[in-house]
Amino acid sequence: MRLITVKDKQFKSYISSVKISEAVKKVAEKINTDLAGESPVFLAVLNGSFMFAADLMKEINLNCEISFVKLASYHGTTSTGTVSELIGLNQDISGRVVIIIEDIVDTGNTLEKLVEILNNKKVKSFKIATAFFKPTAYTKKLKVDYVGIEIPNDFVVGYGLDYDGYGRNLKDVFVLA
Ligand code: IMP
Ligand code: MG
Repeated sequence: MRLITVKDKQFKSYISSVKISEAVKKVAEKINTDLAGESPVFLAVLNGSFMFAADLMKEINLNCEISFVKLASYHGTTSTGTVSELIGLNQDISGRVVIIIEDIVDTGNTLEKLVEILNNKKVKSFKIATAFFKPTAYTKKLKVDYVGIEIPNDFVVGYGLDYDGYGRNLKDVFVLA
């Protein structure tokens, strides 16, 4: 077992890069099969998904594009409270087949907002791909189409996932020790 320090906390080894890479390949194979003949736009949600997006895209054999977006939340002036929008989307995705690339789906709040925004943009259809999924934490009805690895409701870092900004560079995934 490997113990590491990320910022000010100890983490122990949890999922190896070999396991992750196998899972990513499986996700890519499913996407290649399901979307054969389509020309989708992959939408990688920054920051966390950068590593998964890079590995996944290398295994995709579709005629496709990729865009990188961030989800900005801020307090609006309306009574509805927080308003979210996509920042960095520099192309028109209306009428397109979209595949969202996420690092991890936890409660699903982030995903739900993202999907709401995509529906407003009148995309043709969308699928959701995530490297990691916490099924016991998930509170939404929305189907997560492609899951790399399901994990328990634990806090993990590595493979793009951070603890307070740190640990994204780790190629294995680590859990709080
Ligand atoms: P959700 O909106 O609850 O699904 O949370 C999604 C976001 O929370 C992810 O995109 C991550 O940025 C962050 N997150 C959730 N679980 C973890 C974790 O275990 N480690 C690091 N970040 C996490
Ligand atoms: Mg994220």
